[in-house]
Amino acid sequence: MSLNYTKKTISHFLHPQNLGSVKNADACVSIGNMVCGDQLSFSIKVKDGIIKDIKFLSFGCASNIATASVLTERAKGITLAKAKSLKWEKIVEDLGGLPNQKIHCSILAVEGLKKVIAEYEAKHPVPLVKLVKKKSKK
Ligand code: FES
Repeated sequence: MSLNYTKKTISHFLHPQNLGSVKNADACVSIGNMVCGDQLSFSIKVKDGIIKDIKFLSFGCASNIATASVLTERAKGITLAKAKSLKWEKIVEDLGGLPNQKIHCSILAVEGLKKVIAEYEAKHPVPLVKLVKKKSKK
């Protein structure tokens, strides 16, 4: 169990990556934790099923910012399917650990990513023809 922030967490908190809003985003969402009151907003740009750009805004604690920063680094350039399978445990591992009472910050970040992808997919449903072609290739 880690009781303090790691150097990497502090570095991402002080110098967050992908901070802001994506211009002409394909999807934007906000998510919050009712208990601590912290919030995150994510926006994404997607092309050919790949997250071309992702940014976040935070109204939260140091680990809220650090986990969203690491998460956006991981999510940028990968497929939506791969991004959906990202686990909060991996984000915590990337930061070299988080204090137990801050684990929920990483969960919030991963839930935010899943929410923005769901928003994108709701706005851009895969045409039935593409689904049928994909299935027949298997
Ligand atoms: Fe709740 Fe960090 S304390 S997201």
